[in-house]
Amino acid sequence: MEKLVIEGGHPLHGEIRISGAKNATLPLLAATMLCAGTHVISNVPNLRDTRTIVKLLRSFGLECQPDAGSEWRICADKIDNFEASYDLVKTMRASVLVLGPLLARCGVARVSLPGGCAIGARPIDFHLQGFEKMGATITLREGYVEAKSPGRLQGADICFDIPSVTGTENILMAATLAQGRTVIKNAAREPEIANLIDMLTGMGARIEGRGSDMLAIDGVKELRPAATAIIPDRIETGTYLIAVGATGGEIRINNCRPDHLPMLLDKLRRAGMEIEVGNNWLLAGRRGHLSNVDIKTMPYPGFPTDLQAQIMALMTLTNGGLSVIQETIFENRFMHVAELNRMGAHIRIEGRNAIVRGGGLLAGARVMATDLRASASLVIAGLAAQGITEISRIYHLERGYDNLSAKLIDLGARVEQVQETA
Ligand code: EPU
Repeated sequence: MEKLVIEGGHPLHGEIRISGAKNATLPLLAATMLCAGTHVISNVPNLRDTRTIVKLLRSFGLECQPDAGSEWRICADKIDNFEASYDLVKTMRASVLVLGPLLARCGVARVSLPGGCAIGARPIDFHLQGFEKMGATITLREGYVEAKSPGRLQGADICFDIPSVTGTENILMAATLAQGRTVIKNAAREPEIANLIDMLTGMGARIEGRGSDMLAIDGVKELRPAATAIIPDRIETGTYLIAVGATGGEIRINNCRPDHLPMLLDKLRRAGMEIEVGNNWLLAGRRGHLSNVDIKTMPYPGFPTDLQAQIMALMTLTNGGLSVIQETIFENRFMHVAELNRMGAHIRIEGRNAIVRGGGLLAGARVMATDLRASASLVIAGLAAQGITEISRIYHLERGYDNLSAKLIDLGARVEQVQETA
């Protein structure tokens, strides 16, 4: 296993290019299962999660071929297995995204239930209730969801209790081939869903309401393959923005979508960062002190839960005073707090709130995180801290950050990836 060794205290300067979004890659690759033919997906990030979804698709019989650079050709002519095993699903919960396409095209799917994870219980009841409304029979057996639909799925009215990102994506994909109209109310509005809708529309699907919380899908009999590009990763972009806020300096971020980060940009400017924005680039830096801002995570376009841990690291570095960070999406997403406190932060948890007292100097330490974004917050803390920080279990980071060490080194950070000794 490898660890990341960071010598903190060096301001970031330079340019980087943002990779394709992890959370768009997973549904878009799953959507290739909806019809035979060869799909071309470009701007695919080089991530552990990408490799997992490709492994899953291959296990169903699809041929997945990486082309030049970050393009993949996926031939979905043959599907001869309908089961996603526990071994794959346990490493990546988003594997449940294969349920919708399998059910729609093959009328059968057997997918391991993902179970809870480091950030919360994360049930998939909205997905399953949606499929049932569309006429599928769902049975839970031996830890697996067994879904069957003897004929085509039927269009249905589906209303989510709370907007679910992968729930919306799963029902969307299933509805494209259903008979009649499906309406999803209280749908999630994340940009990754719009990316999926663009791909499905290119494949011949009929979808209204892109970007809104009500989607109407008129099922078609057949779809055809399409070429689609994955949108830039807004969470990767946000992570580097917060990093330069923590260290000071100035960086240019290319190939990004600033319009996908409305809340973060507003909060970072209020915290004292200077940010210039173009169509697909950002120039961001900090010269003065940081101020406290309060954060409440919300579904898009609210503040993303996937940047909560990172901005918490930033708030430990303000000039004093308190920031209240409220996590409303996941009940257990404060695993980074204890590790940040080990580095000298002053953070107290009260229910769903983390109260961060600024003004502390962070000091390097040996730390370890239990999930992807918590690990990213420790990287940011390590970049700003005095001394050396060693972050273990970096496979969490490799799940969602393409070439993290190399990009940080391009920005002048002192980072090294080394083998952990036993
Ligand atoms: N929920 C239910 N029942 C369901 C589905 C969701 O109760 O059937 C609840 C969840 O427990 C949570 C809330 O609804 O409290 C929202 O969860 P959502 O379904 O939107 O989360 P997700 O689809 O499982 C995606 C991202 C996460 C991101 C969340 C929230 C992917 C592959 N994953 O998860 O990304 O945090 O939306 O924006 O798109 C990450 O990248 O680090 C990550 C965890």
